[in-house]
Amino acid sequence: CSAAGRGDTLVIGLAADSGCGKSTFMRRLTSVFGGAAEPPKGGNPDSNTLISDTTTVICLDDYHALDRTGRKGKGVSALDPRANDFDLMYEQVKALKEGKAVEKPIYNHVTGLLDPPELIVPPKILVIEGLHPMFDQRVRELLDFSIYLDISSEVKFAWKIQRDMAERGHSLESIKASIEARKPDFDAYIDPQKQYADAVIEVLPTQLIPDDNEGKVLRVRLIMKEGLKYFKPVYLFDEGSTISWIPCGRKLTCSYPGIKFFYGPDTYFGHEVFVLEMDGQFDRLAELIYVESHLSNISTKFYGEVTQQMLKHSDFPGSNNGTGLFQTIIGLKIRDLWEQIVATKTGAPLEAAKA
Ligand code: ADP
Ligand code: G6P
Repeated sequence: CSAAGRGDTLVIGLAADSGCGKSTFMRRLTSVFGGAAEPPKGGNPDSNTLISDTTTVICLDDYHALDRTGRKGKGVSALDPRANDFDLMYEQVKALKEGKAVEKPIYNHVTGLLDPPELIVPPKILVIEGLHPMFDQRVRELLDFSIYLDISSEVKFAWKIQRDMAERGHSLESIKASIEARKPDFDAYIDPQKQYADAVIEVLPTQLIPDDNEGKVLRVRLIMKEGLKYFKPVYLFDEGSTISWIPCGRKLTCSYPGIKFFYGPDTYFGHEVFVLEMDGQFDRLAELIYVESHLSNISTKFYGEVTQQMLKHSDFPGSNNGTGLFQTIIGLKIRDLWEQIVATKTGAPLEAAKA
């Protein structure tokens, strides 16, 4: 993206279908920036916004142009662009980036109605998360960095069953039906955004267990665009080479089905990218330090910072596998991106690339 540096606010886009780990990712990201993000104090209790010292996370559902009844009446889903006000989204993200406060609408997920707006003041880092951060070209051009969480349908199904069946008592049939109903609009309007993302976290069933469909053991791929000014892809062992690595053995405990890493160049929607892949899961999270010590360009400030972050939030979903690992690394890369941009603006000499 080329828009960095126009205002003082760094704008990050995070796209994914709902129930695909955006809030978990946000908790990891704000933790890297040194503080948990909280709902605005004294405001609407149904606000979707989260605020920390540095970061404000806004949920793009707030730009629904049609409320729940309106969507039903017109027969359009929340994923349909016609249910969303991209003009207002663009105007407000642009204003925030230029340092101007905005009165942002609130979509109330409980009532399905649009509530009176809330005041959003320009933060240091603005994250816009939701279904469509990269859909509208004007909004896309405001993004300094963009991420797409690409959860394969098998894994999405497994997570939905876990949440909606185990925790909310829905039936298997109703979960299947709701996923099927969303699919055409998901394929048409949400999924194509991944071609614009600077980083994609792709979550697939493991290849370590033949024909596995349980979605418990995951193969996670971090796809990173090459050639970005403030973002250097992470690499394993030797930059630019192709590596397949099984770290299990003396220094890393692995029970069945083990752990396998892969690193190498690839193309993704016509872009040159590097891919770092982890299949399998950690038995003992503290031993992640062994893997971390073989990764470079991870933008840590001290040896072991990735492992420390992962241990700190070991209760978050995905902490024992590549989803948590790559979300944490992307959090560190965004901190680095922010620090580089600030250094450029203030004219301070840039530190040489760290770690
Ligand atoms: P979103 O904000 O996109 O709706 P959440 O972060 O709230 O998603 O996650 C929704 C649910 O999906 C979680 O409660 C959990 O059940 C499941 N989930 C999310 N991320 C992971 C993960 N990395 N591994 C396993 N399950 C996950
Ligand atoms: C939000 C979510 C969507 C979800 C919708 C529910 O907008 O981001 O993923 O589908 O709410 O809408 P409904 O029309 O079913 O209330």
